Amino acid sequence: MEFTGTHILSIKQFERVDIDRVFAVADSMKPYAQRNKVTRVLQGAILGNMFFEPSTRTRISFGSAFNLLGGNVRETTGFENSAISKGESLYDTARVLSGYSDVICMRHPTAGSVSDFSKASCVPVINGGDGDNEHPTQALLDLYTISNELSSKGRSIDGLRIAMIGDLKYGRTVHSLCHLLCLYKNIYVSLVSPNELSMPEEFVSELRSAGHEVIISEELTPNISNVDIAYSTRIQEERFPSLEEADLYRGRFRLNQSIYTQYCEPNTVIMHPLPRDSRTEANELDSDLDTNPNLAIFRQANNGVLIRMALFALVLDVAHLVDKYADDVPWFSGRGC
Ligand code: CP
Repeated sequence: MEFTGTHILSIKQFERVDIDRVFAVADSMKPYAQRNKVTRVLQGAILGNMFFEPSTRTRISFGSAFNLLGGNVRETTGFENSAISKGESLYDTARVLSGYSDVICMRHPTAGSVSDFSKASCVPVINGGDGDNEHPTQALLDLYTISNELSSKGRSIDGLRIAMIGDLKYGRTVHSLCHLLCLYKNIYVSLVSPNELSMPEEFVSELRSAGHEVIISEELTPNISNVDIAYSTRIQEERFPSLEEADLYRGRFRLNQSIYTQYCEPNTVIMHPLPRDSRTEANELDSDLDTNPNLAIFRQANNGVLIRMALFALVLDVAHLVDKYADDVPWFSGRGC
């Protein structure tokens, strides 16, 4: 794909060669993300960061990624702080904000809304999650994490065995990840969810059409016993008709160290797009896993900065210039974790 000036709206835009390109540029961003170097390559550029749903990782890591490339960030969060609450259309919002920005990242509760917005935008738009539809940058950082975790064990993504666990109906991260896995070979996918929250048929069909083996189950423990990656997800309570309905499913697939030791292979990597629901009634990934070296959730979250830096560098066509505008950091940049 041609990255320069392109909207990043769906993971369906990416071929395998594009993923390789994004991952190679993400690797080259490590000295900057780790604060060993700084670059001014996007000095003067402005990111418009528009988040109409709550976010910690996606919003801050998009902003950090842009700052780490030397650019500036302007944000609006929540409809209540936007003129959309006064009846302004997405079209007008896009026309106005794209006049203030060089690239826009957007999260919105309605599926397809980021794509609609991009049609009126004069600058590239990156989808930070649209309803229960897609979260393409999360899928890229998830696959980058899978690739890194497997390569440290001498493995590649082809031949991956993965369990996706939890709310697979509303979880947009697993929808986008399913699309991505179709680009690879010989994948085993175990889908573990309550029947009512099962993976939509279109994604199951897509995986099977790609030649992958797909197992569907409501049982956690037998289905985490033979996988490389156990990818847990949160019950997406904000997409349910009521909180009472979401409560029916909370805590159904808890994973803790005792279950891990009893059922998982010794090197099974635990992933979660986060936030994990740590309330007592849910406790999807118990805090007693926090010292398990195979818990990759914080490495996964950190990889979000690398992937988003790579996308900005590619979309704004500066990937080849990042090092030219680099300096060593003058401040203490040691990190405790
Ligand atoms: N993974 C993810 O999208 O997290 P946030 O909702 O905090 O952005």
